[in-house]
Amino acid sequence: MTRETILSSIIEGVSRLLVRPSGPLTGAVQIQGAKNSALKLMAACLLAEGRYVLRNVPRISDVDHMCDLLEAMGLSTRWREDGALEIIRGHDVIPAAPYELVERMRASSAVIGPLLASVGRASVAMPGGDNFGSRPIDMHLQGLEEIGASFEVDRGVIRGKASQLIGTDVVLDYPSVGATENLLMAASTAKGVTVIHNAAREPEIADLAAFLNRMGARIIGAGGPTISIEGVEELRAVEHSVIPDRIEVATFLCALGVVGGEISLVGARLDHIELLVEKLGMMGLRVSPERGGIWAMAKERPKPVDIATLPYPGLATDYLPMIVTLLCFADGTSYATENVFAGRFRYLAELERMGATVRIEDHHMVIDGVPRLTGAPVKALDIRAGAAMVIAGMGAEGETVIADSQHVDRGYENFEDRLRSIGADITELDDE
Ligand code: EPU
Repeated sequence: MTRETILSSIIEGVSRLLVRPSGPLTGAVQIQGAKNSALKLMAACLLAEGRYVLRNVPRISDVDHMCDLLEAMGLSTRWREDGALEIIRGHDVIPAAPYELVERMRASSAVIGPLLASVGRASVAMPGGDNFGSRPIDMHLQGLEEIGASFEVDRGVIRGKASQLIGTDVVLDYPSVGATENLLMAASTAKGVTVIHNAAREPEIADLAAFLNRMGARIIGAGGPTISIEGVEELRAVEHSVIPDRIEVATFLCALGVVGGEISLVGARLDHIELLVEKLGMMGLRVSPERGGIWAMAKERPKPVDIATLPYPGLATDYLPMIVTLLCFADGTSYATENVFAGRFRYLAELERMGATVRIEDHHMVIDGVPRLTGAPVKALDIRAGAAMVIAGMGAEGETVIADSQHVDRGYENFEDRLRSIGADITELDDE
């Protein structure tokens, strides 16, 4: 029995990846469309009848889940030969999102706003998704109530109704991405003007607003903290191209930081990752714009830095598992603070299995860098934690087998192939 088979037989999981020491990375990689934008644009297709064409949608399992959800509501979805996703919304919509579909993906809660706006009713199971602490949707519901919806929760199902949504000022307690998106979609056809104060400012919010405006909505200020939405009578189906995935860009850059090399990220946008680039620069990476994307180079062992996650334009919580992995290799001690999701630390135990030395103090991590990690059997606990394990394995001595790697496929299209194409040694293991 080879070491490969022994390791894989020890580890249980739906799918597994074998990662060996890799790099230096060289060449160019195409960046996919942003998962967290595409999923919301898909939900927004509930708003008006017609044929939508979404380009640059990543072919990932979360998108498949959203297709299943829309189909369960009576829409049809189809991948066209040119790679675009076509969604047809007919006259009738079933305004219900069953538990079996919602529990697979937290982004399912994005259908509540559009259903209330277009059908006046929504019956949606409480969302599941990544397991990193309690992730309520109270702010979504509260904001929608302020513009005229009412909700009751009955045996794990949220039932909402709204005969007429009416614009007003809504102040979010926290700039929640999901709550801002649900409000944007619901308010687009409300009577009068809705103003969202303390709105989330992520690039994906601006992309959703651009899509809605193309549909005929009148939204001003998306991407800033105050968004004004003047309700319109009617929206129409349109075509749109999804912005590039900045979290994927961060993932490739962190992999580069660990194993070194020089890469081009085709389609990446520097203006979406400014703070990340500044922090990576402090670690010793060089990142610059180039025609059609960005170019990056890493030559030395990363330098330690202090980082903290915050809502955009702060450093995204989704970058953190990958950045922490990079800092595990740094020449000194780094401090990382997670401010967005209280429970997003479970991946540290997996990194520790590979020889990382990380202490948790409250919501801070103290990371004592080591020159190399050691390959070990580990688990992908969610999308980003899984990507972090891949990066750790690329920089580790020996073999790393990552169980439950299907989590990675929820957010990254052909991740293994694209990493392999620039110099990673990564293989999918058969389930036998
Ligand atoms: N929160 C509440 N109540 C709410 C809404 C949020 O307490 O009603 C809390 C959450 O529990 C969390 C914080 O507010 O502590 C931030 O939540 P937010 O609503 O901003 O995030 P989200 O919409 O649930 C999206 C992304 C996440 C990303 C966060 C933060 C999607 C599908 N998900 O989640 O992405 O981490 O914004 O940027 O857009 C991922 O891609 O792997 C991922 C988890």
